[in-house]
Amino acid sequence: MNLIEIGKKYPSSKNISGFIQLYEKYFSSLKNSKINILEIGVEGGDSLRIWREYFTNANICGIDIDKKDFKIDNTEILQGDQSDENFLKTLIDKYKNFDIIIDDGSHQAKHIIASFKFLFPYLNNNGIYVIEDLQTSYFPRYGGSRINLNKKKSSMNFIKSLTDTINYEKNDRPFYKKSNFDGHIKSIYFHQNIAFINKGESVNYFYNEDFKETFVDKIKKLISNLF
Ligand SMILES: C[S@@+](CC[C@H](N)C(=O)[O-])C[C@H]1O[C@@H](n2cnc3c(N)ncnc32)[C@H](O)[C@@H]1O
Repeated sequence: MNLIEIGKKYPSSKNISGFIQLYEKYFSSLKNSKINILEIGVEGGDSLRIWREYFTNANICGIDIDKKDFKIDNTEILQGDQSDENFLKTLIDKYKNFDIIIDDGSHQAKHIIASFKFLFPYLNNNGIYVIEDLQTSYFPRYGGSRINLNKKKSSMNFIKSLTDTINYEKNDRPFYKKSNFDGHIKSIYFHQNIAFINKGESVNYFYNEDFKETFVDKIKKLISNLF
C-alpha cells in the first residue's frame, strides 16, 4: 500500500493537509530500506502508525514533550523537549544517525531552529529533514510575522537562509559569510506549509580544485594586467 492508502486508516492531520501525497513522492524510494526515522511530535501516535505500516524495515522513534501512555509495536516513543540538547544527545547516543527527521512538534521558530541545528549533523547523506506546518512562520505567537516577512528568526527565514548554503563558494571570496551547513545541503523543496531539506555534499561545479582561483590570484592577475 502507498502512504495515501495507509493514511486513510489513521486520522493524522497529514492527510487533510496534503502532506501525505508529498511524503509518498519524497519517501517512496526509501520504503523498504533499513533506515532510522525520527518524528518530533507524537500527539495520538497516528503518524507513527502510518510510518510503521509503510516503512517495514525501519527503526522508528517518536519524541514528544508530553508523556504517552500508549505503545506502538516496534516503535520507540520517548518523552523530551525538542529544544533540549541534552535530551537530543541521548537520542543520538542510541540511534547514532537518522535518515529521515520530521519536525511536527511545537512549531515554535526557536524550537524548529534549535532542533535543526543540533540534529542536522546527525542526518545521513541523502537523508531528508522535513519541517511541517510552516504557516506558523506568519504567526507572532510562533515567533513569526505576517508583516515582516524578513524577520530573521522566523522559521521560514531560517530555512530560506539555508538556500544560500547550497550555492556556497569554495573559493575564498572575502565577503562571503560562511555557514556550518555550507556544502552539506543538496536541495530544498518548499511546498505549501512544508519544506523538505535534502542532505548531501553539494558539488561546486564552477569552483572545483582545478579551476580554483583564490582572491590573492585574482589580485595578482589584476596587478599583472596593469603592467
Ligand atoms: C501536531 S502534534 C503531532 C502530530 C503527529 N505528528 C501526527 O501527525 O499525528 C504536535 C505534538 O508536538 C508536541 N510538542 C509540543 N512542544 C514540543 C516540544 N518542545 N518538544 C517535543 N514535542 C513537543 C505536542 O505535545 C504535540 O503532541
